[in-house]
Amino acid sequence: MTSTSTAYDVAAVRADFPALRAGAAHFDGPGGSQVPRQVAEAVAATLTAPIANRGRLTEAERNADDVVLGARAAVADLVGGDPGGVVFGRSMTQLTYDLSRVLAAGWGPGDEVVVTRLDHDANVRPWVQAAAARGATVRWADLDPATGELTPEALAAVLSDRTRLVAVTGASNLIGTRPDVPALTALAHEAGALTYVDGVHLTAHAPVDVAALGADLYACSPYKFLGPHLGCVVAAPSLLETLRPDKLLPSTDAVPERFELGTLPYEMLAGTTAAVDYLAALAGAGGAGDRRARLLAGMAAVEAHEDRLRERVEEGLAELPGVTLWSRARHRTPTLLLTWADRPAAEVSRALAGRGVNAPAGSFYAIEASRALGLGDAGGLRVGLAPYSDDVDVDRLLEGLRAAG
Ligand SMILES: Cc1ncc(COP(=O)(O)O)c(C=O)c1O
Repeated sequence: MTSTSTAYDVAAVRADFPALRAGAAHFDGPGGSQVPRQVAEAVAATLTAPIANRGRLTEAERNADDVVLGARAAVADLVGGDPGGVVFGRSMTQLTYDLSRVLAAGWGPGDEVVVTRLDHDANVRPWVQAAAARGATVRWADLDPATGELTPEALAAVLSDRTRLVAVTGASNLIGTRPDVPALTALAHEAGALTYVDGVHLTAHAPVDVAALGADLYACSPYKFLGPHLGCVVAAPSLLETLRPDKLLPSTDAVPERFELGTLPYEMLAGTTAAVDYLAALAGAGGAGDRRARLLAGMAAVEAHEDRLRERVEEGLAELPGVTLWSRARHRTPTLLLTWADRPAAEVSRALAGRGVNAPAGSFYAIEASRALGLGDAGGLRVGLAPYSDDVDVDRLLEGLRAAG
């Protein structure tokens, strides 16, 4: 099948991704996306211009400072946050561990923290371990394995006036489920709890507004949305002011720097800004106004493009015998988890890889979700769509699956 007419110019997008010239059809985006040359160029430009520690005296100092401030502004625009509340770190996992220890400092026996069986382990285990260290209790909000949904009822069942924090995902990296986050966070807030929303998977696939989501803290990772390998957390500066992480004596106590240990990776921050600018440019002719407005339009265009391809994949899968599709939630990202009645998903993944179709198998660290679905620790084959996915990729995937079947 050839491309149907859409305003979204996927051929132009693909031309920006040098990695695609290697020829693989990439369905591995949920693990980390490919990167446009604009991002790589921004990384290189930062490393080849004068660079020093942040300051305003020399050009080298100003370059470092501008890169940091620029990246905070870019991420804030992407998710509708406050640049003064954007914290950068090595990864979402590292930041979540750091913040879990800081937040848990005020917990004790009798306090409760809620985690879910839909979440990636990076938004589960840090909270479980922080709670254990403080003698606090962990409550689990269950995933419905039949529907793939995490409902407000499932959360309400484990909330109490002792709940201090609810950690929940914006979207599942395993099965794509997008729970009703505003409803979940409203329940958490009614109970007097803070909310920590894992936006790592969601941010790559949809327009995001942290205030509308009700996320007190919102985590994401630029390498999932066409950027370099690092993580960030966005929160209100007034909330961050109340938290006291361990830090070096001479390092600044200002927010958000107080959470950023040591020197930031300036080149990755420049790449992050370039990735955000790239997403804003995907709005094309529909992109008017400031960068925030263009990002909302650009991400809406990405969502529509990926959804159209997802429907094509689903139509193709429906004709394949012996395949179970676990991505069933009403509202979800274009991330499909498949298993086969008569063979391990890893075998199918290997067969696809032999045809240049990259779709990995596993539980992708969403181990609680994989177990809740009855898939143990093996999980399934994950097919993820990205802004650079096209109809030819989908054709290659479906041909590969037919051949494997
Ligand atoms: C939903 C989700 N949360 C968290 C993470 C962990 O992110 P990081 O690699 O930045 O620690 C991932 C990575 O795959 C993810 O998909």
